[in-house]
Amino acid sequence: MFADSSLKDRKNGIVKLAVLGALVLSLSVFIMSSQRSNNTAVNPTRQRFLLEGLKYCKTKDQTPKMLNTNERRTNPRFELFSSGLSNPPSYTIIKNGMIIDGDGTTSEQKMDIYIRDGVVHFVMESSSAPSTQLENFLKAKNHVLEVIDANNHYITPGLVEMHSHIGICSQPELKGNNDMFETMSPVTPFTRTIDAFNIGDPAIQLALNSGVTSALILPSANLISGEGYVFKMMVPPSKSVEEMLVQYESLEDTGLKQRWMKMACGENPKRRYKTRPEAPKSRMGLGHLFRHTLDRAKALKNAQDVWCDSVLLDNEIPTTAYPLDDELNMLVDLMRGKVLSNAHCYETYDIETLLRHAREYQIEINALHHSLDAYLIPDIIKEQPYNITLATFASQWGFKKEAFQASVFAPKILEKNNLSVVLTTDHPALPQQSLLSQAQVAHHYGLSAEKAIASITGEAAKGLRLDDRIGYLRKGYDADIVIWSDHPLQMGAKPLKVFIDGVPAVDSPIEQKSDLALAPKSVPEFTGQEISKRKFENQSTILFTGVTTSYDASIEKLQNTDPWELLIENGTITCFQLSCTEFYSSNIENIPRIHVEDGHILPLVTTLTPSHGLNEMNLESSTGDGILMEAMADGQIGDFRDPQNIPIANDGLQFGSMHLIRAFATGIGNIITPPARGEGQLFMTGVSTAFRSNSEDFSSVLKEEVALHVTVGDMGKQVFVPTISSQISTLRSLLVKNREENNLYGRVARKQLPLAVHTNSKDVMLHLLRLKQELDIYIIIVGGVESHLLATKLAANNVPVVVSPWQCQRKFWDERRCLTGLAGQGTLLASLIKAGVKTGLSSDDDTKVRLLLHDSGLAASLAGISKNEVIKMITTNMEEIFNLTIPKSPSFFVSEGFPLGYGSRIAALIDRGIVSKVYPELEPAIDIYS
Ligand SMILES: *[C@@H]1O[C@H](CO)[C@@H](O)[C@H](O)[C@H]1NC(C)=O
Ligand SMILES: *[C@@H]1O[C@H](CO)[C@@H](O)[C@H](O)[C@H]1NC(C)=O
Ligand SMILES: *[C@@H]1O[C@H](CO)[C@@H](O)[C@H](O)[C@H]1NC(C)=O
Ligand SMILES: *[C@@H]1O[C@H](CO)[C@@H](O)[C@H](O)[C@H]1NC(C)=O
Ligand SMILES: *[C@@H]1O[C@H](CO)[C@@H](O)[C@H](O)[C@H]1NC(C)=O
Ligand SMILES: *[C@@H]1O[C@H](CO)[C@@H](O)[C@H](O)[C@H]1NC(C)=O
Repeated sequence: MFADSSLKDRKNGIVKLAVLGALVLSLSVFIMSSQRSNNTAVNPTRQRFLLEGLKYCKTKDQTPKMLNTNERRTNPRFELFSSGLSNPPSYTIIKNGMIIDGDGTTSEQKMDIYIRDGVVHFVMESSSAPSTQLENFLKAKNHVLEVIDANNHYITPGLVEMHSHIGICSQPELKGNNDMFETMSPVTPFTRTIDAFNIGDPAIQLALNSGVTSALILPSANLISGEGYVFKMMVPPSKSVEEMLVQYESLEDTGLKQRWMKMACGENPKRRYKTRPEAPKSRMGLGHLFRHTLDRAKALKNAQDVWCDSVLLDNEIPTTAYPLDDELNMLVDLMRGKVLSNAHCYETYDIETLLRHAREYQIEINALHHSLDAYLIPDIIKEQPYNITLATFASQWGFKKEAFQASVFAPKILEKNNLSVVLTTDHPALPQQSLLSQAQVAHHYGLSAEKAIASITGEAAKGLRLDDRIGYLRKGYDADIVIWSDHPLQMGAKPLKVFIDGVPAVDSPIEQKSDLALAPKSVPEFTGQEISKRKFENQSTILFTGVTTSYDASIEKLQNTDPWELLIENGTITCFQLSCTEFYSSNIENIPRIHVEDGHILPLVTTLTPSHGLNEMNLESSTGDGILMEAMADGQIGDFRDPQNIPIANDGLQFGSMHLIRAFATGIGNIITPPARGEGQLFMTGVSTAFRSNSEDFSSVLKEEVALHVTVGDMGKQVFVPTISSQISTLRSLLVKNREENNLYGRVARKQLPLAVHTNSKDVMLHLLRLKQELDIYIIIVGGVESHLLATKLAANNVPVVVSPWQCQRKFWDERRCLTGLAGQGTLLASLIKAGVKTGLSSDDDTKVRLLLHDSGLAASLAGISKNEVIKMITTNMEEIFNLTIPKSPSFFVSEGFPLGYGSRIAALIDRGIVSKVYPELEPAIDIYS
């Protein structure tokens, strides 16, 4: 990895290099002349040491230079990517678009973009004379032009993902293609993701369809994990991995490239090597191993410098080769500033430790990844002598200790501190095609619209130091371009056209658009006035004014009218109409009142969660009921074939957890939770329970035994039922055998208790339909990712589906046929509705439960289904599917704005006639001891 001579014109290095060049020349002359004039020949090995080593000395302290975009006219990938096209145009012109550039600024006028050879050649105002002249000139010169009218739509540069494992953890995950973790040692700086990158991963195409055109593919988990590469998200016709590299120039090219390495702090490297005696188990051990490794790298670096000095300054002929060590070269290059470090780090003290180590070894931390707690220590991050990019998430929270302090307001706080925010998916942790929604969610919680767009375009490109090629829509940049259906921060915006390196990748029609939507609003901060209304909590009399819409049939449905009033007196709704004045039984002055802007009324949302009400942090079983999977792994679980051994979630409920408080604050009032299975394979999950999320005790339990939950399919393979066929036959025999018994299996067999089957596979669902016909039981499909493939059969058999997750992830084989909703493909929700399947919607991840309303809004807008339809999926349909009767006396919430849309907030939550919360904090301060 050294530069060729064409790269030595770096400004400040030019003199040094000239001196070096002269030295190399004179040394070579010296060797040759001494050979000629002296019979004693110089040792040829030492001569080889010298010539090879000099090349390293020459380049060891060079760093990659940025391209000169003003001069850039061609992009080698255009030819590579377009070689499959029959007649590629010489120019593509995108006319009449509103450009949102990589810094987040929107053009004031409609713009025309001229693309040639995979590079943006010109960006000009559409109405300007030069643009008209240029187009006419090109036509006159008989160029083959492809002219696209963007019809006033928004155009951005292709999205840039700064943290992904696409290609090294392929969809669906199989043992054969999961190459995410190298566990030979916690220190593997010598591993490279390019060696594992699988061009057959369908997630690459899915990412491209969602507008992501470049991604940094990092190795996972290890303390010093290895080298990452930035790939374009298009597989060339040649199927060459190397041709996908953003910095691919040609096979011969040896130019100095940007390089990225990955490191990790905290729980990941601590956890990974539990069974290896020699590997660290604590942060202290990790710290030692880090310093020990960098000490070795530093020694190697010194040896290299000594070697070069002795040859170049003391004119010595070396007796040894230039010192290299394939285990440490990467770290030496890091110390020489040739490699950009990317560190996975969550906790404040982990970040500080890393920065302390960086100071000690004089390395720079280029980007802190995940960095969920960085918002708590902006000053520590700012006081470093270099800039650090925060490559974080919009809303990850809660599943482990180091993610427990996270805040959805972190991106906003980092922005306020002038820190650079980049949003990532960590695919497959979150699907890479949801990168755009990361920016949308961060914007909802206060990150400015400019920075939200920048966080997935220009700011990410800067973080990669590739902002000379990608992340911006400017002259000389790669022609990675997305034309959006809507403002990209609007819920449901999707790419109509995507170009990657000038090659069309997504190509849907663009409709005329006259009205330009702007970015949606962020959720407003509370003022003193709103906070003062919290005194109405716990009252049973209240007046709301300003209600324009109600989705609550038990009150009255109302759509966008003039503002109405809603009066609750002594726990009962006594009036809901334009004016309630005549209904006031007491003096109007005495009635607590809240005026809401564009007030919306919704029933409290009902959802199914993995472990809300049981566990606080799913990776810490001490924080709640525990995790069945862990007990099973230890062989401690009872034989489920005896119904006495089936766990019932109600017996493990823990009230008032942070997860429940946060769920309630977003309108999620009714929770159904089965015993916590954890991640992994478990057939018998147990009996779910339903309760109010603001419960303090059993008085708010809605139904103790809701449904018997089992998992059928690959995820159900456990002891006694290691195959799908044994799962089905065991289920059949247990139900038949117990039909007359007064136990859980008997109740399911007699249709007195629903059987909730967690499965995604179409084929498993076919077996379940047969079982249902045979035994006449009530089956609910939970998951149902492939249920569009048999939607009419499910509808005909009255089998409801609780979709979870709604977004196509294809993580596992059983969900490989999911619908993406992108590039013209339909969505699961739309096909279920069309077929008439009773459909619910829930999250498969506790982290996402409090985001359910926005996720539902997003799912609905991508599916093109109505607001009423999607609200049913998270309220009444869930109640009907789970055979629940929820007290309606009155229980609902009032929001300002459509609560499934961005920019809305909750004004009040009413539980059984009592005002439970007013303008609730979404993230009340965590006091785990109260
Ligand atoms: C040849 O090499 C020897 C030993 O290194 C040295 O003493 C001698 O001066 C050299 N002769 C010439 C002509 O350079
Ligand atoms: C750090 O970022 C600031 C603001 O973007 C910029 O002005 C400054 O030049 C950067 N410093 C370095 C060392 O790159
Ligand atoms: C951020 O930068 C702006 C503009 O340079 C400056 O006015 C402001 O004080 C900075 N804020 C902080 C918290 O440093
Ligand atoms: C409402 O009741 C709860 C629970 O008893 C209490 O914690 C809270 O302080 C009360 N709020 C007001 C405003 O009185
Ligand atoms: C509500 O209760 C108060 C006090 O008990 C009473 O004066 C008032 O008439 C009641 N209002 C209604 C509508 O029942
Ligand atoms: C649904 O609930 C009703 C009333 O609680 C009960 O009679 C019925 O058996 C239940 N049906 C199923 C399938 O659980």
